[in-house]
Amino acid sequence: MKQIVFATNNRHKLDEIRKISEGKLEILSLSDINCLTVIPETGTTLEENALIKVLFVKDNFGYDCFADDTGLEVKSLGGAPGVYSARYAGEDCNAEDNIRKLLSDLAGIDDRSAAFRTVIALLMGDKQYFFEGVIPGKIIDEKRGENGFGYDPVFIPDGYEQTFAELGEDIKNNISHRAIATNKLIRFLLDMQ
Ligand code: IMP
Repeated sequence: MKQIVFATNNRHKLDEIRKISEGKLEILSLSDINCLTVIPETGTTLEENALIKVLFVKDNFGYDCFADDTGLEVKSLGGAPGVYSARYAGEDCNAEDNIRKLLSDLAGIDDRSAAFRTVIALLMGDKQYFFEGVIPGKIIDEKRGENGFGYDPVFIPDGYEQTFAELGEDIKNNISHRAIATNKLIRFLLDMQ
């Protein structure tokens, strides 16, 4: 089976992508290649951040690899938090803090439409490729559900009544932004073989 490095040590993302690509690709994490550095995400777009991570791995460890960057884009907040989704409530904040700030920013606002957007950058030799996945939905006004991570408890994908955190991993991994982008990546890699 084809092996490829996924430039992340985010356990949730790794589990999701390993499940989505089960039986098709063997995914190595940064710790599997002994890369213990937290790669700084200093870009101003998802594309830039994903590229920073793959270039870091290629330059320092020599592996072809892919990386994702994801943002939650809320229409009535002008696309925020977007590329700053991880640090929305400040540098050392956690998911709980980010959700609290998001709900407070949206208090009294009727248009709750939002989308998760994932960009995957793939570096093969000196060639760069990008794959995108978007899932539209809406932000509710309180947390619901125990599964998933990040903003999952307040995001309901279009066509559903439950949040990602209520829907659980099987449904999320079938329809999510990351699943859409990952499936494009898998098709691309398998076509190359
Ligand atoms: P990054 O891709 O690790 O930079 O993620 C940015 C932010 O979006 C982090 O706060 C994550 O928790 C959040 N995030 C990324 N993917 C998801 C997801 O699938 N569901 C909910 N939140 C996510």
